[in-house]
Amino acid sequence: MCGIIGYIGTKNAIPILINGLKRLEYRGYDSAGIAFLQVNGFSVSRCAGKIRELERSIRGEKLRAKIGIGHTRWATHGRPSEENAHPHRSGGIVVVHNGIIENFYELKDDLKTKGHVFSSETDTEVICHLICDYEKKGLSFRDATRAALGHLEGAYAIGVINESEPDRILAVKNDSPLVIGLGKKEFFIASDIPAFLKYTRDVIFPENGEMAEITTEGVSISNFRKNRKVTRKATRITWSPTMAEKGGYKHFMLKEIYEQPRAIADTIRGRFSLEKAGVNLDEFGLKESLLKRVSKIFLVACGTSWHSALIGKYMIEDMARIPCEVDIASEFRYRQPLIPRGSLVIVITQSGETADTLAAQREARKLGARVLSICNVVGSTSSREAHGVFYTHSGPEIGVASTKAFTTQLTALYLFSIAMAKAKGKLKDKEITELFSELLQLPEKVETALKIDGAVKKIAKKYCKVRDFLYLGRGINYPIALEGALKLKEISYIHAEGYPAGEMKHGPIALIDNDMPVLTLAPNDNVYEKILSNMEEVKSRGGKLIAVAVEGNRKAASHSSETLLMPETNYYLTPIIFSIPLHLLAYHMAVLKKCNVDQPRNLAKSVTVE
Ligand code: AGP
Repeated sequence: MCGIIGYIGTKNAIPILINGLKRLEYRGYDSAGIAFLQVNGFSVSRCAGKIRELERSIRGEKLRAKIGIGHTRWATHGRPSEENAHPHRSGGIVVVHNGIIENFYELKDDLKTKGHVFSSETDTEVICHLICDYEKKGLSFRDATRAALGHLEGAYAIGVINESEPDRILAVKNDSPLVIGLGKKEFFIASDIPAFLKYTRDVIFPENGEMAEITTEGVSISNFRKNRKVTRKATRITWSPTMAEKGGYKHFMLKEIYEQPRAIADTIRGRFSLEKAGVNLDEFGLKESLLKRVSKIFLVACGTSWHSALIGKYMIEDMARIPCEVDIASEFRYRQPLIPRGSLVIVITQSGETADTLAAQREARKLGARVLSICNVVGSTSSREAHGVFYTHSGPEIGVASTKAFTTQLTALYLFSIAMAKAKGKLKDKEITELFSELLQLPEKVETALKIDGAVKKIAKKYCKVRDFLYLGRGINYPIALEGALKLKEISYIHAEGYPAGEMKHGPIALIDNDMPVLTLAPNDNVYEKILSNMEEVKSRGGKLIAVAVEGNRKAASHSSETLLMPETNYYLTPIIFSIPLHLLAYHMAVLKKCNVDQPRNLAKSVTVE
């Protein structure tokens, strides 16, 4: 996610902007920039890479300014580069933005016909050109900004300054984070509190649809759609700077688990059309005509991303009825895979830098396959070397244990499966619309699922001293059993195994005794009765049963000592919902065992070596 900072006051803005951007570095970024107003007008300084490059570019100059804005960019549209770095400028209007403007292609085309010249590939640049266009029609800075906002579709937090009105900053919030810091005759805007916590602890939280007009005299907030003033009370922040980086959460992993509703919403945003009953494929470098010709799909990844691949197989084969083969990348790269003509290889990688996955991707290309990368990092090696890329917009994932990247990978696979099914003529428009409608409800259902956190914490307290843990699932949820076990292993160091529940009789049932907790995934699906009998097998041998089931399911509760009830969704999205309690369980067990949750021993966030 990008980071925004802005300052207006009596101090020199430049060190405040730079320091603010440094406090936002944890959000992850690939380029940075600041704009500030001097006597001879605005100066904009931007660079690809880290903030120290930006500091180097302005070092030695005696710069002083009373107003300025800054930005750290996490690329979503357009590769990391100086031209694509914010702030963006049109005439005297300078803008920084965090979010995604869904309709920027149309807006950009329209502005170009009016003579506007663009210098970047970003969605953001349309904002400053729109405001400038309205100002040329005689509107004031504030009214021109309001008018421009009326054209924007998508999520945005924006900071705007104007050379012709250098005594104010406009800040807008719409589905992206924005906070306002209140000092003495000085004010701050930022994506997150750490950016200015050093200067003030008094913060206003604007709500969606609100625009703040900030001068050294104060802050005036209005609803920009209704053009009506609103009052927002200030809040005193008591967090330490370190806590503030985690948004008040104890660990990045917990923050990222709770970011999943927003991450999934951002990954969905602008990717499909209910009216056309179709997925917007342009962005992914895939044409429907190509998908029509695909004869077989290989899904290749490592670790948690491999679990996504296993679930993707169920989605694609069930919706599109074409064969899918799933490989662990470190196996794929050495097994001389047989890749028939017309194959599509999908590599799934949060970092886009995993050595085994990159090697598998290169092997696939060498063998003539088309490659699609499902990736979270714009400009990463995997994204640059693939024929097409489906970016999960989960924002940077700091915790080594992958959570929001995993569920946004599944979201991407769901959309891809629908697109493939449509290309193969296997889904009617009505069915596609129903699948989209359920997807639109997913962020809210994940929000509901997160409410189970307290109950999960109690279970963690009961089992945090165990030495072994077994996870069972069937069908599309069997990989969630693997995922739950991996999460527990990697952050709490408790030995855990995930198994297809149907395998119990073939060995694992020998493990069951009074000390063996068994978590079973029991959604209302075609194998529900089978899972119930597996639960019976465990219970009759004294195993401690924990069931994850769907709200209202009393039967599962009667079979288990603890039951975690989740909101119901369709067959394909159930793994996303059912992963929530498993990630929370691993988290709480690790915390109770005083493990280093965000940086577990022996692990790296991206395994860039074999
Ligand atoms: C996930 O919790 C693990 N940290 C790890 O298995 C990870 O999923 C794996 O290393 C793959 O990483 P990637 O998605 O960046 O390729």
